[in-house]
Amino acid sequence: MGGTAIRRIAVMTGGGDAPGLNAVIRGVAKTAMATFGWDVLGVRDGGEGLLASEFQPLSPEHIRGIAARGGTILGTTNRGNPFSYPVTENGQSRLVDRSHEAVENLRRQRIDALVAIGGDGGLRIAHRLAGLGVNVVGVPKTIDNDLLATDKTFGFETAVQTATDALDKIETTAEAHHRVMVVEVMGRDAGWIALHSGIAGSANVILIPEIPFDTDVVATFVAGRRARKKTYTIVVVAEGAHPVGEKQVFLEVDERTGIRRLGGVGNEVGKRIALKTGLETRVTILGHIQRGGSPTAADRVLATRYGVAAAHIAHEGKFDQMVALKGRDITSVPLSEVTRGLKLVEAGCQVVKTARDLGVCFGDVVPSLVATEA
Ligand code: F6P
Repeated sequence: MGGTAIRRIAVMTGGGDAPGLNAVIRGVAKTAMATFGWDVLGVRDGGEGLLASEFQPLSPEHIRGIAARGGTILGTTNRGNPFSYPVTENGQSRLVDRSHEAVENLRRQRIDALVAIGGDGGLRIAHRLAGLGVNVVGVPKTIDNDLLATDKTFGFETAVQTATDALDKIETTAEAHHRVMVVEVMGRDAGWIALHSGIAGSANVILIPEIPFDTDVVATFVAGRRARKKTYTIVVVAEGAHPVGEKQVFLEVDERTGIRRLGGVGNEVGKRIALKTGLETRVTILGHIQRGGSPTAADRVLATRYGVAAAHIAHEGKFDQMVALKGRDITSVPLSEVTRGLKLVEAGCQVVKTARDLGVCFGDVVPSLVATEA
């Protein structure tokens, strides 16, 4: 690879799926084909396909009508990191660096630039591939919205809408049965989905990883509401939230990748609230429905803008960059800036303050009565 004259590009989706992936693929492919006259290939199943040299030519027929569809027409995986690929030999597992194979496969397919659509893991791999001379442009994907250097990732808005719809439905049962309803949402170490869906869905308690909670504070607040004749309470818990001094609850550690699968804190919170308040409490874990389904109109627009911009960035020869939303505009930022860490909710940010003004309890302090009764 190398050089700036592009004739052929590849598009790859990696990591967990997110609503809007197909709209990005369409935006990249249409611009590449129609505006620049390039050939476009899709990499099958993310990193696995890169290593197995599974490329599929994309034509206008492949991308017709896909912007409204969830998932990815190319397939994806959160395994298949070419720099750290698990192999089993003689019953022993170890991680090997197969990145040279990935680079060689791209070279053999005469790929001049690779558009890598990924979250923090996928973009870290993209940055390392750029270090090996691959002409990479990244696109920020994740429902978690936890990527640095962009105002928003695509997929987030749809996940928040799905969680909000669920909260609206949960509220009718909460009201009918006078219950405490706990809803666990995704987000990994970031509380963006919980914070935004919690506000949109009028939750009374929002627990996020960035603000460790005290179960006694939550219970006091919930019991206080009942004492003041508020007949039900909605609690939104981010999967990464945890009590002060306690670790995050997780389901398992993926032995191939070492990644912890978070989940279960909602049950823990529900149990503790029921025990401490004596109130009838139910727990719902939303899980992967937050990643599925058709992207919202706003996500389709954002994803399409990212895809089109990624082709333009490649055309300008700006590699090892990621397309990013800054204010109203799509721009590009070095991948090294994105891979420095995660964008988490700041405990003192305006959105958290907005929720506090509404009387929302974050589990650190019991909100004042003035706020809760207004
Ligand atoms: O990063 C997106 C995400 O949905 C997280 O919110 C969640 O913790 C994780 O992926 C779930 O991953 P998997 O689909 O591998 O269970």
